[in-house]
Amino acid sequence: MHLFLDTANIEQIRHAAKLGVISGVTTNPSLLSLEGRSDYKAVILEICSIVSGPVSAEVLSHEVGSMIEEAREISSWSPQVVIKIPITPFGLEAISILSKENIKINLTLCFSVNQALLGVLAGATYVSPFVGRLDDIGHNGMELVAEIVQIFAHYNFSTQVIAASIRHPLHCVAAAKAGAHIATVPYKVLMEMTSHPLTTAGIARFREDWSGISQEAKQEK
Ligand code: E4P
Repeated sequence: MHLFLDTANIEQIRHAAKLGVISGVTTNPSLLSLEGRSDYKAVILEICSIVSGPVSAEVLSHEVGSMIEEAREISSWSPQVVIKIPITPFGLEAISILSKENIKINLTLCFSVNQALLGVLAGATYVSPFVGRLDDIGHNGMELVAEIVQIFAHYNFSTQVIAASIRHPLHCVAAAKAGAHIATVPYKVLMEMTSHPLTTAGIARFREDWSGISQEAKQEK
């Protein structure tokens, strides 16, 4: 399973990229607005300069013609750019045209197997089931990921499943168990994934024991 970082924060992306564990980035209009930057193109290009993999950037239009125009414009910014399009009838129409132009699409705001299937049939490269948002309304988001993965494997679809709206490290474990190709994680979750109290305690104990023996060695000299 691959990990993408789900953020538009440049410092977080720089740090995560240094760890060598993320192979792409996903953004959305809410994440961009958190950064207080309106220079959409500049932010996306900066992200592309930090990571070498796919960078998802979402269209803001809702009508098919303007969605297609916007997607063509955004995808011309960099070969790394993947266009995020919400699953709506307009979205599907746009995906079916754009995918024939070899523009990569990430079907976003996916909350059902049927929506994922329609995304594949229209030509999406990725589908993103939103796990946390389903959990929030009392559904099991990870069950949806598992069902989509199973159906895609059954038909040998090449479309990849991105487990999105990840809220905590256990979501990542569940996404891996479900066979998601990718999990896109917020920076906070990535950092939580690195830590375990026994690792922290173990490092402290090793340092303490080693400083004891090196003190003794110094005294013997
Ligand atoms: C995925 O591509 C989305 O940007 C993201 O995972 C949404 O997460 P949220 O539900 O925490 O906003």
